[in-house]
Amino acid sequence: MKFHITTFGCQMNVHDSDWLTRALESRGWEQADEGEAQVYILNTCSVRDKPEQKVYSELGRIAAHLKRDENIFAAVGGCVAQQVGRGFFERFPFVKLVFGSDGIAGAPNALERIAEGGDDRVALLDFVSIYEERETSEERTVSLPETRQAFVNIMQGCDNFCSYCIVPYTRGRQKSRLPDVVVEECRALVASGIREITLLGQNVNSFGQDKGGVGVSFADLLYRVAEIDGLHRLRFTTSHPKDIAPEVIRAFGELENLCPSLHLPLQSGSDAVLKAMRRKYTQERYLSIVEGLKQARPDIALTTDLIVGFPGETEADFQETLDMVERVGYESSFSFKYSDRPGVAAVNMEPKVSPEEASERLMRLQTLQNNITKKCLENLVGLETVAFIEGMSRKQNGEETFWKGRDPAGRIVNVAMPESDGLVGMMVPVRIIEAKKHSLMGERIGIPW
Ligand code: 5AD
Ligand code: SF4
Repeated sequence: MKFHITTFGCQMNVHDSDWLTRALESRGWEQADEGEAQVYILNTCSVRDKPEQKVYSELGRIAAHLKRDENIFAAVGGCVAQQVGRGFFERFPFVKLVFGSDGIAGAPNALERIAEGGDDRVALLDFVSIYEERETSEERTVSLPETRQAFVNIMQGCDNFCSYCIVPYTRGRQKSRLPDVVVEECRALVASGIREITLLGQNVNSFGQDKGGVGVSFADLLYRVAEIDGLHRLRFTTSHPKDIAPEVIRAFGELENLCPSLHLPLQSGSDAVLKAMRRKYTQERYLSIVEGLKQARPDIALTTDLIVGFPGETEADFQETLDMVERVGYESSFSFKYSDRPGVAAVNMEPKVSPEEASERLMRLQTLQNNITKKCLENLVGLETVAFIEGMSRKQNGEETFWKGRDPAGRIVNVAMPESDGLVGMMVPVRIIEAKKHSLMGERIGIPW
């Protein structure tokens, strides 16, 4: 069978799609281009309204392929699948499988049965309370990426119920993996050549604080993974400010391979809005975390998520968000207009901010952020760092070849180097020579290793 996966949304979805690809390939299925597939899999996101709408338009596009072969079918996984469930079977009869993120473990078998004609329609929508392991370390290390970077799931789901967020409803309660299993997976990846690992979870800082917990905190886990010989770069995402422990902050000063970057979603700078969002921290507490992080690691690059136009947000509240963005000096941020999601508490909160007002605030916020980003990048010109090469970026003037890498903080660094095999996955010593709008230019100053 030939399959094609399209992924929307967060890194957790990307990671789930990678696993599904490996699982189907191990059953003899083959990845195919969109025009040639017999099975279309959409891994979906419903965190905001826009990504959800994209799923429907994508299904509309897939329907056109039925003209080529009427046996073509589709599967919808992830958050929209969990939310809409069997509703997909009625709206799009060629959808034969729906699976939520807790049901993904059963998806490969279900797809096989459907392809063989054994099952007509399957819905895998039950939540589980304990993390279900999907593969062994040996299976995990089959066909690793050339970039030598890997994501490792440490947990699934979320217990926070921030008032705007659909995630606890679509991904279920928090379930941590066993720390030994996580460390073993990381060890096997590094032994197979992986140099950079990103630990993944909806709220990694509360790792272990659920039924799967065995007394190992996120800080403990971080130290255990960091000590794996040969692991050059360690990252983690996402962090909830309310749960970040002093030991994790300290780790930024102590663990050499822990990268100097942290994504710490602020959402709003106003205490009143934070309260309505049920974020359980204040502006003051957030700033004290930032201070601690900067003390532990002065070169730390902070990034964040921000929502504008949350119900009840006044111009003064919004000003506080702008103030916070300036005070923290985020390297970059993702900012969104608040969007009502079905079933979340904020749906019933009033007054709603008009879409025009929200758009205007978003624009002001993004303009401010662009200026700060520019300054952050300009401050790096002249410094020496190491770019971890991910691939070729583009040719300039038809002559020079540029390679795209990342510095330890995760900033994109483009480096002019001759076209050659084997540069992907290498560390290249560079000096930063120029700051672009969202990236840096570097010149090679040493031998790639
Ligand atoms: N409206 C707008 N943005 C949202 N996010 C989550 N839910 C909503 C919503 N209802 C944003 C938050 C979160 C990011 C992944 O998406 O900023 O951190
Ligand atoms: Fe959503 Fe809040 Fe959980 Fe993040 S911490 S996934 S914003 S409920």
